[in-house]
Amino acid sequence: DWTMGAYREEMIQKIRDQVGDKNVICALSGGVDSSVTGILLHEAIGEQLTCVFVDHGLLRLNEAEQVVKMFRENYNLKLIHADESELFLGELEGVSDPETKRKIIGKLFIDVFQKYANEIEGAEFLAQGTLYPDVIESVSFSGGPSVTIKSHHNVGGLPEKMGLKLVEPLRELFKDEVRALGHELGLPASFIGRHPFPGPGLAIRCPGEITREKLEILRKADAVYIDQIRKHGLYDEIWQAFAAILPMRTVGVMGDGRTYDYALALRAVNSVDGMTADYYPFTHEFLGETSTRIINEVKGVNRVFYDCTSKPPGTIELE
Ligand code: XMP
Repeated sequence: DWTMGAYREEMIQKIRDQVGDKNVICALSGGVDSSVTGILLHEAIGEQLTCVFVDHGLLRLNEAEQVVKMFRENYNLKLIHADESELFLGELEGVSDPETKRKIIGKLFIDVFQKYANEIEGAEFLAQGTLYPDVIESVSFSGGPSVTIKSHHNVGGLPEKMGLKLVEPLRELFKDEVRALGHELGLPASFIGRHPFPGPGLAIRCPGEITREKLEILRKADAVYIDQIRKHGLYDEIWQAFAAILPMRTVGVMGDGRTYDYALALRAVNSVDGMTADYYPFTHEFLGETSTRIINEVKGVNRVFYDCTSKPPGTIELE
């Protein structure tokens, strides 16, 4: 009979058979798929694996540190923390078009990954967290955001360009099976249950031009919002939730003074696969309390909107 434990052993043996004594590189994003892929590979081939975590400066509050710490402390795998935020934010300066942002980030991601990969001696394989639905989709799906997801997250086109062969241990699995495998491999529950996070990160939650100031405000506000959701026991009820900083300032009053600060949009949706989504019906009490907390705790925000658009006609992200 079928158990995840037996499947894990089987996959480890398959990886060893495929890779032999060659070296493997793996791009970790902090998401479930790449995390499970990295841990599985590490279990199979240990020191032959090097993981690269590309930090594009568009991650959430303390996210890079948390991801790197989790892998180094719990798994002891070889991990390069590629802090390239200066490069990414520099290239994005003055750019406000959503697709241009994605293209710049996607291209730099590949350049950076390639640069680090070239330094790893004898790497012949690239490990990817491709899931079964991705395998199907890449055949039948054309157009739309999933293509972008693939070209960014799964480092599309890169293996051929670098002359690398692919290792894709999750190719037969669905998302819930990957989560079960992650559990089996000792990945913390807080990691397994994380909401999806887009490859371009906060860039597409900052409509218009991206500035360091806006990113800093957004990070703090998003952290307060997610904290509120967790405190109310709603995190696992929601498919994806995040804050976005709007490209405008509005007038407010605080104490005796007038403020002129950024407005923020809060988003929360339920969905099965991200293709369609319903906005999440928070209570007014929750929304009011969250708005008050954000404005009190985050300097630079004086107005909070809740986005009650479903998909379609809206998209989940604001860009
Ligand atoms: P949209 O905004 O298209 O989002 O309704 C659907 C799901 O896809 C994620 N998303 C992306 N993920 N690169 C990614 O890796 C992208 O460019 C991208 N755009 C959207 C989004 O977070 C949601 O889960």
